This record gives sequence, C-alpha cells and structure tokens, in this order.
Amino acid sequence: MFSGTQEIEKNLIKICAEEIFKAEHGQYDGYVASGGTEANIEAIWIYRNYFVEKEDADLSEICIISSEDTHYSIHKASNLLNISNVVVQVNEYHQISIPELERNVSKAIHDGKKYFIVVLNMSTTMFGSVDDINAVTNYFNLLHLNYKLHIDAAYGGFIYPFTNNESNFNFKNPDVSSVSIDGHKMLQAPYGTGILLIRKNYMPFVCNDNATYVNGKDYTLVGSRSGANAICMWMILHAHGSEGWTKKMRELTDKTSDFCAALSEMEVEYYRNPYLNIVAIKSKYVSAELAKKFVLVPDTHEGQPQWYKVVVMPHVHHNALSQFINELALELQ
Ligand SMILES: Cc1ncc(COP(=O)(O)O)c(C=O)c1O
Repeated sequence: MFSGTQEIEKNLIKICAEEIFKAEHGQYDGYVASGGTEANIEAIWIYRNYFVEKEDADLSEICIISSEDTHYSIHKASNLLNISNVVVQVNEYHQISIPELERNVSKAIHDGKKYFIVVLNMSTTMFGSVDDINAVTNYFNLLHLNYKLHIDAAYGGFIYPFTNNESNFNFKNPDVSSVSIDGHKMLQAPYGTGILLIRKNYMPFVCNDNATYVNGKDYTLVGSRSGANAICMWMILHAHGSEGWTKKMRELTDKTSDFCAALSEMEVEYYRNPYLNIVAIKSKYVSAELAKKFVLVPDTHEGQPQWYKVVVMPHVHHNALSQFINELALELQ
C-alpha cells in the first residue's frame, strides 16, 4: 500500500540523514513522526529497551540526563517509560553545565545508575542555546560510562547545520546515536512533520511483532501516519534545494545579528547563539504591553517572566524589527 509515498519518505530520510546530518549511505533508519515530542520519546524508548535487552539492565539502573532548559517532552518520556530523569543545571550560556553534570552523574552512579540516555540540545526552545557536545562526550568517554546520545534538534535541525559548517552534531561524530528534527518549525511545514534519525540496528528494539494484519512491521510510537507529511517536507526541501536553503538560513541569522546589534547599542541584555535566529531578551527591559503588542514569547505564562524571546522567521520583516527597536528605545528613555 502507498509504495510511492513510502519511497518519498525514504528519500526524505536519506536527504536528512546523509546530506544534513552526514550519515554514511544506508547506515541509518528513521521515519516521519508526529513531531519532536514523538521523535524524542521514540529515541529514549529505543535506548531503554536496548539497555534492558542487551545489557540486562533493570529500569532502576537506567536514567536520562538532560539540562534544565531541555524541552518538556523529555520529562514526558521519563514518565511514560518509567525511567528517572536527572536534570542538570545550565551555565550562563544556557548550555548544560559541565561541573553540574559531573556532580549529578557521580550522584547517579552512587545511587546505582549504570546506563545513561543523554539528551543534548542543538538549540533549546527558549534561548536557541546549543550544548557543548565535546565537553559532555569527553566526560562520559573518559569515565567509560555506558551511554547513548540523542540530539534534540527539533528546533535547530533545519537551521544550525546550514549556518555552522563546524557543527559536529551529526553522524560523523561517533558518539551521536540519534537526532530528532521538526519540519513544522524552521521548515514551516504543516504540523505532524517531526523526524527521527537513528543509527542502523536500533529501531528493532521497539519493533512490534503483534501487528500481524499490517504488511510490514510497526516500529513507530504513533502507529498510523499521514503520508502527506512526508511528501510535504520532501517538496519544501526540493523547492529550495540545498544551496537555496543555506542562503535562506544565513539571511535569517544575518537579520538576527542586525537586530542584536541594535539591542547592544541600547545596552539591552539578551542571549543569542550566533548560528540561530532566536533572541531572548531580559524581561526587565520590555514592558508587558510591548511584549504583547509584538507577540513576544515569555519563558513562563505563570507569574513574572524573566525572558521574552524574539524568533526572526522569514516573514519577520526588517520594518517590524526596527519598529520594535524604536518603540523599545522610547520606553527605555
Ligand atoms: C527543542 C524542542 N524539542 C522538542 C520539541 C517538541 O516538538 P513538538 O511540538 O513538535 O512535539 C520542541 C517544540 O517546541 C522543541 O523546541
């Protein structure tokens, strides 16, 4: 059934795995999931089962390691899969703090944890911050810990690899086991367009043998999926081409840099990763009215926000940015 659509999905996975995330030909699996949440949960589900089946692990010996700025889908995974989540504080750059990581992992080992599912952010939701992957993997490798590394690139997956040539959040890096990316964020595809990419021979750990009426087995969390989502992402990527998309993403980061330069000139404090299009501004500089007018996203909807974020998408015109800067300047005066 739908073999043409399946070919398109396979080609889409190939483009994402081989061209964007530098996997070797045929050395990966993947599928179009309902979103970043599902792709993250699926990866953690796979590693949990891997540790149980391959290492005879008890669930109490497995834990997730993630930062306090990690997306809440990781907490969902922890709850659903019945494995604990060790939440590590971030440093001033909103990256997982290495001293805090060392402290938390030592404690987890002391508490009997032997198997680690590490989730790093190739861009957090609120700050666009990217974890220091080398520092984290060096630590785990030095201690010869048994771990699998999943990259949550739900936000950054369709921008960071195009703006940072030096990125090692990809399958050339032997420590990376899987990546989740979302088409319905930077790619502006309709909702339902997450992707999980994972090294070969891991998907079988969640294979459902009971789906006897299905021709072909089910390895997904969601079950039935719309093929239109794969077609849609495939179309968007082909419409732009790799050079076209790179140019578009670099224009976005340039536009974001101009915006940041204007904020710096006004001595407004903000956080921004230069390869991303998110700017998190300290809330003390922005009135609630201005934030509402420009639809800025607060870090919390409960109580007083600490940060407001601006996401410079293609439709965010220079005029809109300068209008915000002018109104902010008036407020600050
Ligand atoms: C970093 C990150 N991970 C995961 C998700 C979850 O993605 P979705 O809403 O597609 O399930 C998001 C959504 O904002 C995200 O920013």
